[in-house]
Amino acid sequence: MEETTAEQARIRVALIFGGQSPEHGVSCLTAASVLKAVDQERFDVVAVGITREGRWTQVPLDVVADYSVINGRVPEVAGGEYDAVWMVGASGCEVASRNGAELLDIRGVDVAFALLHGPYGEDGTIQGLFEMMGIRYVGSGVAASAIGMDKHHMKVAFEAAGLPVWPYVVATAQQWLDHPDRVLAEVSALQYPVFVKPSRGGSSLGITRVTDPAQLPAAIAAAQAHDPKVIIEQGFVGARELECAVLANPQVDGGCDASVVGEVRVLAKDGFYDFEAKYIADDQAALDIPADISHELSREIQIVAKRAFNAVGAEGLARVDVFAAADGGVWINEINTMPGFTEISMYPKLVQHSGMTYPDLVGRLIELALLRPVGLR
Ligand SMILES: Nc1ncnc2c1ncn2[C@@H]1O[C@H](COP(=O)(O)OP(=O)(O)O)[C@@H](O)[C@H]1O
Ligand SMILES: [Mg+2]
Repeated sequence: MEETTAEQARIRVALIFGGQSPEHGVSCLTAASVLKAVDQERFDVVAVGITREGRWTQVPLDVVADYSVINGRVPEVAGGEYDAVWMVGASGCEVASRNGAELLDIRGVDVAFALLHGPYGEDGTIQGLFEMMGIRYVGSGVAASAIGMDKHHMKVAFEAAGLPVWPYVVATAQQWLDHPDRVLAEVSALQYPVFVKPSRGGSSLGITRVTDPAQLPAAIAAAQAHDPKVIIEQGFVGARELECAVLANPQVDGGCDASVVGEVRVLAKDGFYDFEAKYIADDQAALDIPADISHELSREIQIVAKRAFNAVGAEGLARVDVFAAADGGVWINEINTMPGFTEISMYPKLVQHSGMTYPDLVGRLIELALLRPVGLR
């Protein structure tokens, strides 16, 4: 009997990972990290993987815990036998495994924790699904996720909040097709190098550093392979890339705390923090936590990070990335509402340096999700 009581008291958490974005494998590694860290006496975990093709499947916990990089290859969600079926019935949201016509292992879900990065995960789409299902979930809601995913809209939100944004130009597919001359004229007001990026991208995919206007069309085409809307930004030369983790805290003014500041040092000459430096080569970038910067600069970045969090209406967690120019100016690069979240990623490491362990962070994010009302808020 006692066991049943303990079982009922556990909070039922669905981890969702994998997905159709290029960050599928990284997401699986995150799932393994989170699963190993989550307190299973408090939380009853069900693991739901999304295959690269988009199939939802229930994955046994021991399979998730074993996800790792083997011979340089990232793990992936295998199709498996069982589909994951989500239902909203009289007793709320439930998830089950389906084997043919049979539903097995039906259980309720209290909190969804989507460990997905990029489009269809970090951009408000899955958050909308959770809203429709009436369940609580970790992290930002629909609007904040969508704004935080889109480099164009996040800049508009930052500018409206009076935050420092570096010069940029936006080109939709239609504008580039109909009026390339106008786009090029706008870009000519920027100083080179410029960075051409997909507006809703991630992991540096589709980004080109352009030093000569003649390279622009090819760079725009490369960005458009990820998103028809492209953003062209004036490049920083000699600026430092600094990052700050923001964690919601309903107890304090402003509703969030900022971590110590970390630095990404790109080691390759003329290089930037591209996909290779982020995930593949371990000799191309160094992470310094905390960053070797003055107390004043660190304070300023923490304030900017908290304001950026609130400017997009973020919830739960976000990582805010800034450039610190040689003259001391701080400019926001971007906010990530679902930042890299393996145990060795920047966000958890920053939080850890500020005094919270990875397992406590995982538990705290679930608690924060439970504190929020369902529905409009
Ligand atoms: N305006 C810029 N000036 C200099 N470097 C930049 C600029 N924009 C981006 N970068 C470099 O490219 C990397 C990826 O750009 P970012 O906007 O953060 O895209 P993503 O969302 O893919 O991380 C940055 O970490 C930085 O190294
Ligand atoms: Mg970035």
